[in-house]
Amino acid sequence: MPKIQLMNLPASSYIQIAPDLKICRVLNGMWQVSGTHGRIPAARAVESMFDYVEAGFTTWDLADHYGPAEDFMGTFRQKLADRHGSNALDQVQALTKWVPQPGSMPRNLVKQNVDKARQRMGAEAIDLMQFHWWNYRDRHYIDALKHLVDLKTEGAIRHLGLTNFDTRHLTLVLDHGIPIVSNQVQFSLIDRRPLVQLAQRCQSHDVHLLAYGTLCGGLISESYLGQPEPSAWDLTTASLRKYKNMVDTWGGWSLFQDLLKQLKAIATKHQVSVSNVAVRYVLEQPAVAGVIVGTRLGVSQHIDENARVFGFELDAEDYEHLEAVIGRSHDLFERIGDCGDEYRQR
Ligand SMILES: NC(=O)c1ccc[n+]([C@@H]2O[C@H](COP(=O)([O-])OP(=O)(O)OC[C@H]3O[C@@H](n4cnc5c(N)ncnc54)[C@H](OP(=O)(O)O)[C@@H]3O)[C@@H](O)[C@H]2O)c1
Repeated sequence: MPKIQLMNLPASSYIQIAPDLKICRVLNGMWQVSGTHGRIPAARAVESMFDYVEAGFTTWDLADHYGPAEDFMGTFRQKLADRHGSNALDQVQALTKWVPQPGSMPRNLVKQNVDKARQRMGAEAIDLMQFHWWNYRDRHYIDALKHLVDLKTEGAIRHLGLTNFDTRHLTLVLDHGIPIVSNQVQFSLIDRRPLVQLAQRCQSHDVHLLAYGTLCGGLISESYLGQPEPSAWDLTTASLRKYKNMVDTWGGWSLFQDLLKQLKAIATKHQVSVSNVAVRYVLEQPAVAGVIVGTRLGVSQHIDENARVFGFELDAEDYEHLEAVIGRSHDLFERIGDCGDEYRQR
């Protein structure tokens, strides 16, 4: 059986987020297959997962509510094992999420949901289970997390992470002695709220940040440079609509165009793309282990371009030029609150 050949991304493209969990620093995000980003052809989507893994992008970000994402992962893992032997499965990391409705969290409910994800993904153990909670006033999230810790001890989960937890509640979870390896939050040139306090708290507690929204659904790319402000009709994916709202809150289309112009100048200097600079900026921030870039599997692909992120570094002058534009924007921490507050009532 032929071994799977991975293309050589530089060693710096990978990071150990736990002693036994190494991930690619650009992760493949699967919200884009959920159905809210256009129709995804299932067979072609699964087949295209081989392209990502063979190119060295071995880490996937999924969730229970991303439509067929966990099922795609299950089919992909089966095909991978059939073609290259079951050892090839060790080359791929599948990080999923559990996003329950608030309410009482008995052990059997937590276990049922973990087992469902394992079954869908065809995985003995979940590499990283990231937990989301909608309402901090409902304190049952601590019960849920304690059950997840037990399931980790029993081998159903390898590591436990959070998503969209703010600094205060991340700290509270850590104070309960719950071992958290990561927190997944929105982090981009537009949304720099993690820098206010979360990144520092993560660094001091060995919690890795996983960033999403870094390309604002594709708005941060050459495609939107010099373009008039898109109307709601022009924004064809849930992601574009979500981040266009964020751009509006941040400072509006005209300032956004100034940012794209600046990014283009920096990109030209390094012979990379606007999106590369945006991803690189977040990757270079403290506590950030990885950036999750959405993948519309079977529809569009940016594999070769995104590999260039690992071939350059931003310098002091680049940071200065970016700051000159970003410094003119509104303070999202003040307007929205800490990371994840956009999902919760204040
Ligand atoms: N925890 C949470 O609450 C949460 C929330 C949102 C997202 N996420 C995670 O983060 C992932 C990323 O999603 P996102 O919504 O934040 O989207 P994003 O990564 O900001 O944008 C993804 C889109 O950017 C475009 N793109 C990718 N690489 C590009 C490149 N090199 N040049 C130009 N365009 C490029 C693609 O558009 P085209 O397909 O049109 O080419 C792609 O669909 C999700 O899949 C999910 O895993 C998590």
